[in-house]
Amino acid sequence: MAQIVIEHLKYKYPGSNALALDDISLTIKSGEFLGIIGSNESGKSSLCQAVAGLIPNFYKGAYGGKVFIDDLEVKTVDVDELCQKVGIIFQNPFNQVTGSKLTVYEEISFGLENLGIPRDEMKKRIDEAMELLDISRLKDRYPFDLSGGQMQRMAIASIIAMKPEVIILDEPTSQLDPQGREEVFQAVQKLSRQGITILLAEHNMEKLAQYSDRVVLLDGGKLIAIDSPQNIFSREDLYEYGVEPPVYTQICKKLGIKKESTGCYPVTLTEAFELFEKKRGN
Ligand SMILES: Nc1ncnc2c1ncn2[C@@H]1O[C@H](COP(=O)(O)OP(=O)(O)OP(=O)(O)O)[C@@H](O)[C@H]1O
Ligand SMILES: [Mg+2]
Repeated sequence: MAQIVIEHLKYKYPGSNALALDDISLTIKSGEFLGIIGSNESGKSSLCQAVAGLIPNFYKGAYGGKVFIDDLEVKTVDVDELCQKVGIIFQNPFNQVTGSKLTVYEEISFGLENLGIPRDEMKKRIDEAMELLDISRLKDRYPFDLSGGQMQRMAIASIIAMKPEVIILDEPTSQLDPQGREEVFQAVQKLSRQGITILLAEHNMEKLAQYSDRVVLLDGGKLIAIDSPQNIFSREDLYEYGVEPPVYTQICKKLGIKKESTGCYPVTLTEAFELFEKKRGN
């Protein structure tokens, strides 16, 4: 699977005076699940789009630095080739539906048709993608009749059918109800377990802390830190960047309950529970 290397990435949208991305360098390991956090307008979506190649191939503007997915530089690589390496999912599932297809199956086949994938291979890939996203039973449904969670999973299936090595999700559940959100997170976790490299920009810190191997904190287009969720969410200056840690971390901070071995606060329910139990046992 793919490793991502970002070197001194800078980007300014056309007509803007400020840098949306300001000298970002980082390496994302193959198969890693990377969370992206920061306040509104900190650059999360811009970073997602730069890794997916939409910046600078679709969004023009001033661009500096380099983004590599394995040995491919996203700025120079052919779009068809890039689509088979990296896929991106946006906030609103509604906007990602082609609008020209009558069934979920046809919708998922859209990207593959454009790539000229042979029929048998196409069918195999679509069946596998629907199975993985748990939407096989919806294959004959009209795309716009799906729930938000189902629609978002259909969008992910369309990407998965292209067999990318990297999937980028930009607040994929912010428009969904709790059930839809859970369905999508479960699906993303499955993809991660298959070894796909995942980048997830997210405001839901509980979910992000639960799934991420590392978290990158952005502010004003700058990379402030990249570290484990425990280290990031234990930072005392987090509120200055407009980020609230997971509720479990907030409670443990208030109670002064942290892991003695690392000096970090818990970030998930399970971690917090274990520490509480340990305290009670003492
Ligand atoms: N299409 C655009 N044209 C001009 N400026 C833009 C555009 N999209 C974003 N920006 C600017 O780029 C900067 C970074 O925005 P970005 O959307 O990447 O932040 P974000 O962290 O995703 O914010 P949010 O949490 O609101 O989604 C902001 O200053 C924003 O105003
Ligand atoms: Mg955004």
